[in-house]
Amino acid sequence: APLLEVSLPLYFGWFLLSSAQDKVKCMALDFVKTLDTLDAFKKHLMDFTGKAEAEVDLEHYFKAKGALHCTTKFCNYGKADGAKEYAQNPAIKDFYGSVSELSLSALFVTPRTVGARVSLTEEQLQLWPADAEKEAESAVPAAASLPPGSRAHVTLGCADGVEPVQTGLDLLEILALQQEGQQGETVEEMELGGLAYYGAGRWLLSLREPIVAPACFSSYYG
Ligand code: A2P
Repeated sequence: APLLEVSLPLYFGWFLLSSAQDKVKCMALDFVKTLDTLDAFKKHLMDFTGKAEAEVDLEHYFKAKGALHCTTKFCNYGKADGAKEYAQNPAIKDFYGSVSELSLSALFVTPRTVGARVSLTEEQLQLWPADAEKEAESAVPAAASLPPGSRAHVTLGCADGVEPVQTGLDLLEILALQQEGQQGETVEEMELGGLAYYGAGRWLLSLREPIVAPACFSSYYG
């Protein structure tokens, strides 16, 4: 029926419950504010500003992008490849509306985005599209060789003119470097964990204790 054909959402994903949103936003803000004060960060400021001697106010450099969530499948109302197939997977129906705990295992910052890496459980991986990493191949060539779920993240903010889809690509880039054996240059032990620099403005804070964020598996229509 025609009605069914237009009923696919913009995207499916886990939506952080509001108390978890507040907690994560707070931690992210603390992180970028602290990062901004570190000598190691100041040394690489060129990555963000393109010029020496310039300053950057990271807190205002990134703009928030609506309710915090971890996208599983971007469907674009059915126009995206594999959207219909994804929505028909019985696991989607089974888990729709259910709450589970997302484990946020790292925070990262690039000149384009700030985000949190999500480490999915086996159960949560049932809702992860098989081709999510491969779809990023044109932007990040090594993406297809990374394990399923590597792209899972929460977008916390984007620089002016940057679309949120970039956050997952930025994460994949860092994970691809790790897979090649680059562990990043450990620059600082912060209260929350170890901070490493991966070049070109890419910073990753591996959380000693993951942030546990309850989230509801659902969809967004816009
Ligand atoms: P993300 O999951 O990184 O936050 P938009 O507002 O640009 O339409 O995007 C809506 C949501 O879908 C955002 O959460 C965004 O990124 C995600 N998204 C947009 N385009 C894609 C894509 N091509 N592949 C995967 N996720 C996407």
